[in-house]
Amino acid sequence: MMENSIQFILNNELQTFGNKISNITLLEYLRNGKNLRGTKEGCASGDCGACTAVVAELNDDATLSYQTINTCITLLPTLHGKQLITVENLKEGTTLHPAQQALVDNHGSQCGFCTPGFVMSMFALQKNNATPTEHQIKEALAGNLCRCTGYRSIVDAAVQQVNRMQSLCKDKFERQQKATMRELQKINQTANIKSADEHQSCFSPSSINQLMQLIEEHPQAELLAGGTDLSLVMTQQLKKLDHVIYIGRVAELQQIKETESALSIGAAVPYSVFDQRLGQEHPEFGAMISRLGSLQVRNRGTLGGNIGNASPIGDMPPVLIALGATMTMRQGKLERHIAVEDYFLDYKVTALRQGEIIRSVEIPNSKTDHHLKVYKISKRLDDDISTVLAAFHICIQDNFITAIRIAFGGMAEIPKRAVKCEAALLGQPWSQTNIEAAMAILEQDFKPVSDARASSHYRMQVAKNLLLKCYLELESTTSNTNVVNYF
Ligand SMILES: Cc1cc2nc3c(=O)[nH]c(=O)nc-3n(C[C@H](O)[C@H](O)[C@H](O)COP(=O)(O)OP(=O)(O)OC[C@H]3O[C@@H](n4cnc5c(N)ncnc54)[C@H](O)[C@@H]3O)c2cc1C
Ligand code: FES
Ligand code: FES
Repeated sequence: MMENSIQFILNNELQTFGNKISNITLLEYLRNGKNLRGTKEGCASGDCGACTAVVAELNDDATLSYQTINTCITLLPTLHGKQLITVENLKEGTTLHPAQQALVDNHGSQCGFCTPGFVMSMFALQKNNATPTEHQIKEALAGNLCRCTGYRSIVDAAVQQVNRMQSLCKDKFERQQKATMRELQKINQTANIKSADEHQSCFSPSSINQLMQLIEEHPQAELLAGGTDLSLVMTQQLKKLDHVIYIGRVAELQQIKETESALSIGAAVPYSVFDQRLGQEHPEFGAMISRLGSLQVRNRGTLGGNIGNASPIGDMPPVLIALGATMTMRQGKLERHIAVEDYFLDYKVTALRQGEIIRSVEIPNSKTDHHLKVYKISKRLDDDISTVLAAFHICIQDNFITAIRIAFGGMAEIPKRAVKCEAALLGQPWSQTNIEAAMAILEQDFKPVSDARASSHYRMQVAKNLLLKCYLELESTTSNTNVVNYF
């Protein structure tokens, strides 16, 4: 195999792309390149799940993990070393896979447009978790929209599939697992993939030194991590991503490290890989991540991409800022550390230097007497962008506020601290009177915009109310402050 070939297994067949690698989406490749049209296109922006397929990947412990992805926003070059499973490959002969049969038995399909996507989500859920809870079933299906059947029968189908698979003998994927792993192991997992002509280039390095060299040689290339933001340039703005460096295979960016005082998360680690570990340290943070996008988005999207995108409504930065997290930046062989807070300068203007990347994010561990509260306000519970996101990190000792960091998303052109509100509360007694006075001061910190999601007035009122909610919840764990209990 050439050092620069991209290789992956599509269903059961090895695919090799030599010098000319197209920066096209997997959906385009499947439907137009391979005539596999069971995978549907609904929104082309990662929102509906009609294009869901499953990627099987080798784990370090010699097992396979199965993840759902939105093929409409996943680029072909990201597949190297993996197996892509599409809905066409599920049935055996004329026998439907239990995920498909369960949808038939429970009348879970009417027009059928969403059905392949649901089948793939159900298939992956069962592969990763033989005994999912109802919450886990709903979480696995939350990235798939159905406009006619109604979700009751689809959820029932997922429950039935899980029960059936427990009593049935293995499906063909389990029977073929060892053979699949052998085929994947034959692919050079650490190949440094390079492909370029004058019109298009794609690089997929496997080490940070290779990555930094490529960035130096190709300054015009876009960094591609999960692609859940970047690929929308292609599917929504109809532009081409001609020059891309994929960072998802760079070993150093995939590491999670623990020190005595912090958790360091590599910039290219997907949410679904680090969310549980982070949630153990900061449960409120973990709970918020479970509402970031859908499982398909969290299987691909990364922390580095969320910060790198510099959106004023990205969910991670306000929480990281409230916790006082820092980032390790890398440029060539040089590294520097900056506070996440200092990264955002103006709307989509950041402190990232030419040729520099975010290497990792260091998140301080929880501390005694410190409380973290995180609130995401969006129109839907699942798979929705924030209107306002508030993060409060407060230390209360002897009923006095001895440290406080408050950060908001959606309230300014960048994720930002409420410094005047913090100053008003620091050193003061922890009381409702003081909190109510500080609520008014938020008006000095922010002048939010009105847009399609909410008016300026709404955002300000919500921000104030969230401060009060934080107070009430810390005061009494039994206060009924939630309209919806989603756990
Ligand atoms: C359906 C859908 C729902 C979503 N819901 C949410 C949501 O609820 N909350 C939310 O916050 N976001 C949401 N997003 C946005 C997106 O998923 C996240 O911002 C995600 O974290 C982006 O990560 P990525 O790896 O996919 O980034 P990419 O798309 O790969 O990259 C995004 C940008 O960051 C740059 N970049 C990536 N990595 C680095 C790095 N290491 N160093 C420097 N620059 C880098 C890229 O060059 C690019 O400009 C959603 C997206 C979709 C499609
Ligand atoms: S087509 Fe809607 S998520 Fe891909
Ligand atoms: S069956 Fe028609 S969209 Fe779900």
